[in-house]
Amino acid sequence: FVSRLKMEGIGVLVTCPMTSYLEEQLQNRFKLLRPWDSSSSSEFLGQNLPSVRAVVCNAACGADSELIDSLPSLEIVASYSVGFDKIDLVKCEERGIRVTNTPDVLTDDVADVAIGLALATLRKICAGDRFVRSGLWRDGDFQLGSKFSGKSVGIVGLGKIGTAIALRAEAFGCSISYHSRSQKPYPSYKYFPNIIDLASNSQILIVACSLTKETRHIINREVINALGPKGVLINIGRGAHVDEPELVSALLEGRLGGAGLDVFENEPEVPEELFGLENVVLLPHVGSDSVETSMAMVDLVIGNLEAHFCKKPLLTPVI
Ligand code: DGY
Repeated sequence: FVSRLKMEGIGVLVTCPMTSYLEEQLQNRFKLLRPWDSSSSSEFLGQNLPSVRAVVCNAACGADSELIDSLPSLEIVASYSVGFDKIDLVKCEERGIRVTNTPDVLTDDVADVAIGLALATLRKICAGDRFVRSGLWRDGDFQLGSKFSGKSVGIVGLGKIGTAIALRAEAFGCSISYHSRSQKPYPSYKYFPNIIDLASNSQILIVACSLTKETRHIINREVINALGPKGVLINIGRGAHVDEPELVSALLEGRLGGAGLDVFENEPEVPEELFGLENVVLLPHVGSDSVETSMAMVDLVIGNLEAHFCKKPLLTPVI
């Protein structure tokens, strides 16, 4: 009770609109600042920014050096996401600012979406839905899809999410190969030190690694060409893993068979050329967006903030 009372005065800045449940839970505990909300006057923000002690961000809007520099009392950045590529970790480390994320609780959901995208792209599930809604039936021009079961699946990044995708794909009778930073041996999966070799040996290539300097544009022209006109690319990692203009031209020129994408390089912008392609499935970065998982992620964000301000060990620290 004492700590709850103390926390009510703590300024927490939310960097962009997030779920109403998250906001409600934060609002119940802290003094919330929403710079993006028109009801937060610039006078209120100006008065309160200097005393902000925590930032809550997500995969879309992290915490860059400009934001961090504008908050002299900042102690912790709690991200409502597993990925923290949009948080300036170097700056946080320099200032002794703690950073937390929401790992594990979203692993199954993101892996489910990867498989969902593979099925939807190969079996033309979204295209079929559009077909029926437009009053047509299968005896029209609706083209056959391609089988998912039994295909060779290449996974880029065999961390927790990549492994969860592999387990699911195994259940569909797929053979699994991977390219991963850790090179941890998986007896039943084939490791490729070179991603181009992985792509040429895969019918479906799924990107599940985290975004770093090394993995930015890891899916480039050579990799796309190696995957080939019958290959399908699935991306549930980050848009910047893929050289997007290269992906678009490969799809337009028929050098790639299809793509299922949950993430884009300049979200929320999606290359318009993709809208007219039937062999592409597009999602608005919803990998972890089930009701159950979003609540578990909120619990972690709140748990980390409470732990920090009660001087207890963080639940899921990044640094
Ligand atoms: C995350 O949490 O980083 C992912 O982008 C969820 O899809």
